[in-house]
Amino acid sequence: MLGNTFGRMFRITTVGESYGIGEGSGLSVIVDGVPPGLKLSDDLIQEELDKRRPGVGKLNSPRKETDKCHIFAGMGQDGVTTGAPVGIIIYNVDTQKIHVDQYRQYKDLCRPGHATYGFYKKYGEAQDWCGAGRASGRETVGRVAGGAIAKQILALEGIELIAFTVQCMDIIAKEMTFEEALENYRKNEINCPDMETAEKMEKRVLEIKDEGETAGGVIELRIKGVPAGLGEPVFDKLSALLGHALLSIGAVKGIEFGAGFKVANMKGSENNDEFADKNGRIGFKTNNSGGLLGGISTGDEIVMRLAIKPTPTVSVRQDSVNMQTMQIEELNPITRRDPTLLGRIYAVAEAMAAITIVDALMMARGYDNVCRTENRWREI
Ligand SMILES: Cc1cc2nc3c(=O)[nH]c(=O)nc-3n(C[C@H](O)[C@H](O)[C@H](O)COP(=O)(O)O)c2cc1C
Repeated sequence: MLGNTFGRMFRITTVGESYGIGEGSGLSVIVDGVPPGLKLSDDLIQEELDKRRPGVGKLNSPRKETDKCHIFAGMGQDGVTTGAPVGIIIYNVDTQKIHVDQYRQYKDLCRPGHATYGFYKKYGEAQDWCGAGRASGRETVGRVAGGAIAKQILALEGIELIAFTVQCMDIIAKEMTFEEALENYRKNEINCPDMETAEKMEKRVLEIKDEGETAGGVIELRIKGVPAGLGEPVFDKLSALLGHALLSIGAVKGIEFGAGFKVANMKGSENNDEFADKNGRIGFKTNNSGGLLGGISTGDEIVMRLAIKPTPTVSVRQDSVNMQTMQIEELNPITRRDPTLLGRIYAVAEAMAAITIVDALMMARGYDNVCRTENRWREI
């Protein structure tokens, strides 16, 4: 399996599977490029991990994983990073035989919509059939732990980011500013800061859950305080790097920046963000560009929306294929699942975006220093 590392200067490498084998199995992340002198602790990482932890509410998978983390490398005795790679481990605890046996029973039946078919085609019988291995949502625990470190670095740079639900099925939240969204951030299970709409969304998910079904939606990701000039103009546009980071999360099916797909129905002058004097500094009247022009940050808020597909594992009978007999067979899965991914996946999106921005910052500052770029335009 290739491609378990993301980033260029600030890099995460994740290892581990949904179940693993036996006691002591778990997931781990190695974070390279962590600056020295950063205050870190298990508790600090834990705060982020708790955002995506399963088994904590009615909209979540009943799998009871505590997701307790331990930093096992990269820290000095005084609780600060030394500049060495940071290693974090999160053990699997809810890996009971009854569930392993269930997965074994269905191991040759591909769940429609799930990664299992692609994995069978690529890895054959050696593919990890227990809990979907690396294709499981559980893989993202290492990303969130790595993202917690990236968020610490961003906080020192005055960069804030949040992700929240703006749509669940056909229920759409009202538009909100960063500050409005922050006020009600994580105040309900579906993490929709429009509190009234959140109630409707949660009710709808529970109705869908009762049908043995799952629900899709959209989350919005906003990053505030990103300096102008991040991203490279050709292959490594910041938009392309964010796209890579966010589309690498299972179940993310689309990404929009700023006005996104609405541009199809706009005239040029409507879509263009006109310049404006913002308290003596150059800014924009609107933000249809989503804070990126030519793939380079403009200094305005970066705004993205991610389409999240409904969890593929459902309790509705569907036609599957038995990979041993190559016959079509009916499947009625009984494994545990999230009725919607909306209440958990935002934490992974925040982590991947934070890692991407830290990496882009390090690349830009490295380039500027080596080239001694004195760019007075950035101060305007
Ligand atoms: C946080 C998180 C939790 C997930 N939980 C489940 C789940 O409970 N059941 C399931 O079938 N898929 C779940 N998924 C989706 C799978 O991990 C997998 O990526 C997906 O089925 C494959 O879809 P793709 O083609 O979009 O990558 C989860 C994904 C994430 C990111």
